[in-house]
Amino acid sequence: MEKVVSGIRPTGNLHLGNYFGAVTNFIKMQDQYDCLFFIADWHSLTTHPKPQDIQQSANTILSEYLACGIDPEKAPIYVQSDVPEVLELYLYLNMNTYLGELERVTTFKEKARQQPDNVNAGLLTYPTLMASDILIHRAVKVPVGKDQEQNMEMARKCARRFNNIYGVDFFPEPQSFHFTANAVKIPGLDGSGKMGKSQDNCIYLKDDAKTIRKKVMKAVTDCGPQAPNSPKPEVIENLFTLMRVVSKPETVQFFDEKWNDCSIRYGDLKKQLAEDVEAFCAPIREKIQAYAADTDNLRAIARRGAEKARESANATLQEVRQIIGFHKTV
Ligand code: TYM
Repeated sequence: MEKVVSGIRPTGNLHLGNYFGAVTNFIKMQDQYDCLFFIADWHSLTTHPKPQDIQQSANTILSEYLACGIDPEKAPIYVQSDVPEVLELYLYLNMNTYLGELERVTTFKEKARQQPDNVNAGLLTYPTLMASDILIHRAVKVPVGKDQEQNMEMARKCARRFNNIYGVDFFPEPQSFHFTANAVKIPGLDGSGKMGKSQDNCIYLKDDAKTIRKKVMKAVTDCGPQAPNSPKPEVIENLFTLMRVVSKPETVQFFDEKWNDCSIRYGDLKKQLAEDVEAFCAPIREKIQAYAADTDNLRAIARRGAEKARESANATLQEVRQIIGFHKTV
């Protein structure tokens, strides 16, 4: 069966972007593929989180994965830092990856701009760590949102280059995967292109009804359609994009018609959107609380996940060492 792997950084709670860009695919894929899902805690170190937050953040994402419907019996869930094999592969891949190509990665350039006092080597080599996460299991499919496309291209480059350097056909070239025709990008509520933790424009799965309403009612809009059937400006299209993922098709159609005949009232649209987001989040929210309360269960799930992930990782690493020329000496 084809192998699938994907992960999320534990830098806060899961938001609708994470859910519709990635997790919704995890849930469907777990029945059809050999899946492993993880919590990318090493990746979160680029911003120097406090030690006491590290464990807590991993538990948060784990509870949220479970609440969304990932079944660890079908798809083991592990914490990246419980699988040290990833780091050995990271080192090997870094030896074959060049400064120029890492510096050209858009997210690196963005982060370097956002945190000029902390342009660390981990930030630069973020794509090779991500490639290691994937290649350590020789995964072929990786469910990710649109924003990860460049990192996925780097992962393919790492696989190709390793195979070329050593004259082997060892690593498959991993492909992004989603059930929809195109990769998903969920917009933020601030009119920006992307919902993201660092942009402070998110609706989190754990948000309560009041918070959701407050956030949605504050979403950026414009002064309304100027002529019948005119194209929607980006800020309005963003609200419709959100509506398309949480509301019924007839609701979207209703507001689409209102837009087209210029009778739309943004207050009504937002009220409906807030209700539909709440209806979507409420059952997940309750489950998050239940899973988070049982830390023994979370520990057991992460331990079993790490065992399975290490087994798979070790098998790859044994072969990688042989290919590179390291033979067992002890
Ligand atoms: P992260 O933690 O930023 O996001 C996790 C997943 O959520 C998706 N996503 C979105 N999708 C659509 N619209 C949005 N607004 C949105 N925001 C986030 C992301 O595309 C991603 O799929 N580098 C990764 C974590 C990672 C990883 C890996 C993923 C580390 N190693 C190996 C796959 C395989 C990241 O920062 O995702």
